[in-house]
Amino acid sequence: MRKQLTVGSLIAGRSPVQTPAPAPVHANMPETTRRAGSFSRLPGKPQTTIQRKQVQVKQDDRTISVEQAPCQTLLQAAIAQGQPLSYKCRQGYCGKCRVLVVSGGSLLEAPTKQEAKKLAEQLASGYRLACQSTFRSTIRD
Ligand code: FES
Repeated sequence: MRKQLTVGSLIAGRSPVQTPAPAPVHANMPETTRRAGSFSRLPGKPQTTIQRKQVQVKQDDRTISVEQAPCQTLLQAAIAQGQPLSYKCRQGYCGKCRVLVVSGGSLLEAPTKQEAKKLAEQLASGYRLACQSTFRSTIRD
């Protein structure tokens, strides 16, 4: 039987099967760098933290956080993210999805005519209709 030659087999003292297993990419990173939501391109370099933007709303006695989902309504995003938001018509008529925006309101587009009609003066107090409030399509800081 003929022995198959490889580049590695030509190096003295090294067999072709002695290839070290590649180390995991983040094996040498500090534990703080490996945590979810943050990463560093190079060890020793300043850490870049990725923070997810979210809108925090109150409905009844619950406070719900909905992560930014450009071009989706607050209700669509909440449902997709498994958040327990009450709603009924999804058309801006019943008012069942009414929420008080606690924080992150700047991530939402201006109120629609339907919201203004349904909420009237509550709009100025920070209330929105989750089925009509749409996340802005562009990301702003
Ligand atoms: S679900 Fe009816 S107004 Fe939003």
